[in-house]
Amino acid sequence: MVALALITGASSGLGTALAKRLAQDKVPLFLTGRNKDALEKLQNELSLQTEVNIFAADLSLPKERSALLAEISQRKPDLVINSAGFGLYGGALTHPLTEQLKILEVNALALTEITLESARALIEEKKPGVIMNISSAAGFLPTPSFAIYSASKAYVTHFSQSFDAEVKKEGIRILVSCPGQIKTSFRERASSGLNKNQEGFEAMSVEKAAKLILKQIHHKKPMEIIDFRYKVLVFIARFLLPKSLVQKKMQTKLEKRIRSKIY
Ligand SMILES: NC(=O)c1ccc[n+]([C@@H]2O[C@H](COP(=O)([O-])OP(=O)(O)OC[C@H]3O[C@@H](n4cnc5c(N)ncnc54)[C@H](OP(=O)(O)O)[C@@H]3O)[C@@H](O)[C@H]2O)c1
Repeated sequence: MVALALITGASSGLGTALAKRLAQDKVPLFLTGRNKDALEKLQNELSLQTEVNIFAADLSLPKERSALLAEISQRKPDLVINSAGFGLYGGALTHPLTEQLKILEVNALALTEITLESARALIEEKKPGVIMNISSAAGFLPTPSFAIYSASKAYVTHFSQSFDAEVKKEGIRILVSCPGQIKTSFRERASSGLNKNQEGFEAMSVEKAAKLILKQIHHKKPMEIIDFRYKVLVFIARFLLPKSLVQKKMQTKLEKRIRSKIY
């Protein structure tokens, strides 16, 4: 039984769906996100089922990350789900550098700090635990027009698998889940509100994605591409097609979702 679950990105999308499912099982929750109003609303809703604490923090800001790390070292959650993340559609030169670097700060740097601090806290207490990092199927493919995002997710996938091998013997598992498209506000945010179409044929419902991720945690599977269609797609793209063709296909797909601005 999980004593305390920390979820980052709990204020929206997948993080909210995961919090709702864990609350059904009465797992005590420590929820974080940037949007305090959304966190408070979720806290009010889920407090009927379980104990819920919230902590608003912008993970692109070092000071706010440090405050969250201090909470982790004190609370020692034995299930951590790093769901916070975002991307920006468009060529790497079409957004200001500071905005692009925030992708790395949230998706890679904050995730690394939270993973390391959580593992350290559990090892000190000699407690077992699971850290689930949410990556993306995009992390397996060269993705022009989503270059920094897909690279950040490649990092998440490799870091998680490597660190898992280091701490497994201490009873700590670092798992990584790689979804394809999920129906959340991710796509709208990535296109700065321009692309509101969440109904692409390939998008999975957020409830189904949350269910599959919790199943992966239950079975402690190190790495999963949680959508079978993306499993096949990634296999074909990685092992059967020339990289130049994959790049071209991905670029065409992404360019449909964006309107470019050059900075
Ligand atoms: N949806 C997809 O198609 C898809 C596919 C593959 C992988 N993923 C991954 O799934 C994860 C969850 O995304 P989602 O689909 O649930 O998207 P979402 O609905 O946009 O949720 C993203 C979450 O990340 C949080 N976040 C973003 N920037 C942050 C920052 N600077 N500081 C703190 N929190 C921040 C957001 O907090 P606020 O709401 O408070 O701003 C929100 O809770 C992400 O890691 C994403 O890369 C999504």
